Amino acid sequence: MSLLLYNDSDTILKQAKKRKTSTFSTFLHMLYIAGFAAVAYLIREAWPYYTLGLSDRPRSPLHTLWKPGGFLGHGLGIIGSAMILLLFLYSARKRQWFGLRWGKLSRWLDIHIFFGIFGPILVTLHTSFKLNGFISIGYFALLAVMFSGIIGRYIYMQIPHTLEGHALTLEQLDSKDRLITRILVEKYRISKSFLMLLQKLSGAHLAQKRRGFWLFISLLFNDLLRGYRFRKIRRYLVRHNPDIPGRALKELLHLSRQKTLLMRRKLMLHFMQKAFHYWHVLHKPFAYLMLVLMFLHVAIVLALGYKWIF
Ligand code: HEM
Repeated sequence: MSLLLYNDSDTILKQAKKRKTSTFSTFLHMLYIAGFAAVAYLIREAWPYYTLGLSDRPRSPLHTLWKPGGFLGHGLGIIGSAMILLLFLYSARKRQWFGLRWGKLSRWLDIHIFFGIFGPILVTLHTSFKLNGFISIGYFALLAVMFSGIIGRYIYMQIPHTLEGHALTLEQLDSKDRLITRILVEKYRISKSFLMLLQKLSGAHLAQKRRGFWLFISLLFNDLLRGYRFRKIRRYLVRHNPDIPGRALKELLHLSRQKTLLMRRKLMLHFMQKAFHYWHVLHKPFAYLMLVLMFLHVAIVLALGYKWIF
């Protein structure tokens, strides 16, 4: 066994033993919890205003606060737009513009997604659900970018990346897959029938049966059923190894999960790379259209003399 292989299998086993949550992912979870709590609070407060008919709103005492140009309504628009501008920092980090090399690209993408979700939510509250004029086109472009972002994230996840954001090649995936198989066979003495079960549950067979859009939908369903499939694998392992210690079972399950994902991702790599390319072609123009309309909207509002607290 080469030293490189030994080190790699060591890393894989270490990862399987202690899958520690990083400080960053704890921070991100907290950020999402705080974000959703703040949005829920804002909606609860503004609900009596949002549910008023458009003609009744100007007579409401809540109007000065929650209308798009009101103290809170306007503030939400400014914060939401700032978040949308900040998410473009991801592009700057990805291409190392302005010498920006700091931090892992995968974390910048996580922040991009956070701003990409909460920016549009705050902008939606800023509109107070009253849409007219050209800015409504900008708003729908914003929604299109946000929802297409969710699809893009799914495709992105199907192409394994390093933390630095580099996509793994087929050869790298293949060697990782072989390494995991070796650990499963040499350390855990798993049977051929177990390997076949993993193959069946991986969803890799879908690539032979379906193409294009339907393949994509089948993969989505396959992923939704992953929890159920893994309970099946767990039952199989416990039935065939009743004395297996809890720790070893956990490690074995982690490796089995990695193996099923790798088997599928290897087969789908070309399809997913193509899908991701086409997705970029759609996502980016909508993002830039939205940006241009947003700047135009801000310029018009400033020209009309609207001011917030500054
Ligand atoms: C206002 C909302 C959003 C805007 C304006 C936006 C804009 C963009 C832009 C311009 C890119 C291209 C980056 C580059 O290659 O330089 C991008 C990439 C991406 N976005 Fe968004 N996005 C938004 C929301 C989202 C959301 C909500 C998600 C996921 C839930 C998301 C996921 C992604 C992913 C996975 C990439 C690809 C990363 C890569 O290829 O390196 N985006 N976005």
